[in-house]
Amino acid sequence: MSLYAIGDLHLHFQSELKSQRQMKDRLWKNHEEKFRRNCEKMIADEDTLVLVGDHSWGKKLAECEQDLQYICDLPGRKVLTRGNHDMFWDAGKTEKLNALYQPRLTFLQDNYVPYEEYALVGTKGFTFEGPFFLDKRGRITGWDEEKETHAKQLVERELQRLRTSFEAARADGYQKFIMFVHYPPTNILEERSGFTDMAEEYGAEQVIYAHSHGEHRFHDSIQGEFRGRIYRLVSGDYLRWKPLRIL
Ligand SMILES: [Fe+2]
Ligand SMILES: [Fe+2]
Repeated sequence: MSLYAIGDLHLHFQSELKSQRQMKDRLWKNHEEKFRRNCEKMIADEDTLVLVGDHSWGKKLAECEQDLQYICDLPGRKVLTRGNHDMFWDAGKTEKLNALYQPRLTFLQDNYVPYEEYALVGTKGFTFEGPFFLDKRGRITGWDEEKETHAKQLVERELQRLRTSFEAARADGYQKFIMFVHYPPTNILEERSGFTDMAEEYGAEQVIYAHSHGEHRFHDSIQGEFRGRIYRLVSGDYLRWKPLRIL
């Protein structure tokens, strides 16, 4: 039994594709076909695959049904976390989605998913992404402080949701955690954040995140060991559409 993760599939079987990169980059050409083939080679029915947000370009559930069906048809048990583009998924209505798609898909939000002795916990997260102001040498000289203030509010809300997820697992006796956030756990200015602090507070062994796609963004946040936890970026193009084995 293995645990795999990947993010940012950005499927669009029924919806308009809005990303120039996704339209032009060779890496994204027929990416859903490459990914499906890799899953079929690597993932067995008893395995779990966590899809770490940005599943679909569709705005409403009706525009995402074929994308979600594609995910249903992949091998293994599928767990989904929210991404910033997942407009079909209202955080307050996760129970409804779970009722609709159980047992084919599990939507991870304000709840947890058991995996052997671990609880898989997660939320969308949030990161301040600038704009940053740079000098001629590309060094950061400042940033949009109004946007930063707004980002801090969103971070607080996401931290509350993440705590709900950890506490639900803890109430059921879980002490080992793998934490999933769609956004990187820190912004490019920070070494630590509320998300890295919470991973440490609950003793999450690994923090898995996505959202950073396109080569220039692969190193926006922590990768590898940091203050006793392992951080892994799993955006699909970074992994070249091969799910990463987490456990
Ligand atoms: Fe994305
Ligand atoms: Fe994203």
